[in-house]
Amino acid sequence: MVELIVAEDYQRLSEQAAHIVARQIRNKPDSVIGFATGSTPLGLYRELVEMHRQGELSLAKVTTFNLDEYVGLSREHPQSYYRFMWENLFAHVDIEPDRIHFPAGLFTDGEAACEAYERELEAAGGIDLQILGIGANGHIGFNEPAESLTLSTHIVGLAEETRQANARFFENLAEVPREAITMGIGNIMNARAILLLASDKNKAEAVQSMLTGKVDPKVPASVLQLHPRVTVLVNAEVAAHLQT
Ligand code: F6R
Repeated sequence: MVELIVAEDYQRLSEQAAHIVARQIRNKPDSVIGFATGSTPLGLYRELVEMHRQGELSLAKVTTFNLDEYVGLSREHPQSYYRFMWENLFAHVDIEPDRIHFPAGLFTDGEAACEAYERELEAAGGIDLQILGIGANGHIGFNEPAESLTLSTHIVGLAEETRQANARFFENLAEVPREAITMGIGNIMNARAILLLASDKNKAEAVQSMLTGKVDPKVPASVLQLHPRVTVLVNAEVAAHLQT
């Protein structure tokens, strides 16, 4: 079941998202949280940091799994998702570094890297709350539009539109990696609850297809219609383009 919530603006969306995440952590301090990178959850992470600074939230017992990482980037690379999470969240809260999990961006054996992540997810007992952004092409994690869905952690060629969308973080398009390692659709669907955020009007079409289109691997997010507990949080700018 998908519940749609419209927040007035990006700030309110970020605050509401932070309340949902904080509620999860307060109800279950040892929650397993799936995190996403990208621009959309930045406000959420800012709010979580603020809650922690105010003494209102502890992540000391939380375990985290990130959705994805660029293939070929070391953890120290300025554009690695590992570094992104440290800079924007992990360094500013009381999270235990041992409980932070990322798919490996640098590896000699890709299959082994994917299997290792699967084992870590399994050992943690799965994800309690998965945070997602959405690509303008309907991708979630880096599950790009395709003929079929891949369920488990895998290596994926990034769609050209995704590379272009993410080029803003790199010196130029050529520097954007061509591959990523990502949780699969099955990993995401196994999360006990999902919170998807969209705050840019260029996402409206993808959000619309996700909410009311047919379930189609060409819009990977559409599969979320089959999940029992999904909250889609959009700002008014996105909502203005939706027909629900
Ligand atoms: C990031 C991820 C991607 C992004 C999506 C939206 O870990 O998995 O699916 O959530 O590309 O990115 P932004 O928020 O930058 O528009």
